[in-house]
Amino acid sequence: MRTIDWVDGRIRIIDQTRLPLELCTIDIAEVDELVTHICSLAVRGAMALGVAGALGMALAATRAAESGADLDSELAAAADLLIAARPTAVNLGWGVRELLLARAGGADAGQLLTRALAIRDADIAASRALSERGAQLLAGARTVLTHCNAGALAGVEGGSALGVIGRLHADQPLELVYVCETRPLLQGSRLTAWELGRLGIPHRVIVDSAAAGLVAGGAVDAVVVGADRIAANGDVANKVGTLAHALAARHAGIPFVVAAPESTIDGATESGRDIPIEIRDEAEVLDVAGRRVAAPGSTGWNPAFDVTPVQLVTAVVTEARTIRGRAERALPVPDDLTELTPAGPATTAP
Ligand code: MRU
Repeated sequence: MRTIDWVDGRIRIIDQTRLPLELCTIDIAEVDELVTHICSLAVRGAMALGVAGALGMALAATRAAESGADLDSELAAAADLLIAARPTAVNLGWGVRELLLARAGGADAGQLLTRALAIRDADIAASRALSERGAQLLAGARTVLTHCNAGALAGVEGGSALGVIGRLHADQPLELVYVCETRPLLQGSRLTAWELGRLGIPHRVIVDSAAAGLVAGGAVDAVVVGADRIAANGDVANKVGTLAHALAARHAGIPFVVAAPESTIDGATESGRDIPIEIRDEAEVLDVAGRRVAAPGSTGWNPAFDVTPVQLVTAVVTEARTIRGRAERALPVPDDLTELTPAGPATTAP
């Protein structure tokens, strides 16, 4: 079953808010319904959001053609709604803009749908190609760690980081995949673990804060994650908590690899500092399963993503190329620093 598709004039999505307890779909007939489901994360993940942007615009065009409404004003309104739904994953705006470009080239409603379906199909092909490339890069890794969900549920049917992991496992069975649960919405334990279970890949769910110790202790050969936006300088925005894994990987001297389609690379955003980070409702942090657990009166802060600087990235694999990160470069250390001695403070002057 595809995560997102076009079926009988509507958009069909898997409702990811119900997984892993229930596998069910939602059929969406209007753009504002789609926006609601994007905001609730019923459909989520950068690749799937790119396709949602394109199919959402095709839906607006189809409805305009049926009702006789002005196509351009309907498309403009839909574009504004869709782009504002989630600000960090650049693929969403990319999918929308691809359809606006097609319209600027003279496409009618039918041709806009054809373009959106081509974007859906390209997502499947991209996922396959980048998964192969990533598996070649990491050949020999036996134990990997991943964060959030960058699997089939984050694209149409293949995914990015989990596509790489699936391909690695097909080439030579992996010993273990460590799945970070991914607070606060648990995309790791709910979605990634569910996908790995269905693929028959051995895995263990860990709390996010267990990852650093695990990686530093030498238990992991590589960290593989997806991305929501890659700035022109190579900085990577991904699910909050990713930066901590990159720091741990750097400390342990293991590869930190980002798997993402070309549509995630945003040449118009200079660096990670310029990437808009979605701040979600504090209730997601303060409550568990809809029930308040934080102390009464406490407030929360809930950034959905963080930015890993390119200096911590070993490589980015896309469907078209492998881009070198800068993680292999040593940090510049001034010559006049003293060495830390194993027992107590560094030497004092004689
Ligand atoms: O908030 P989400 O669940 O949409 O966040 C998703 C991620 O951060 C994924 O790791 C990322 O989109 C890559 S998936 C192709």
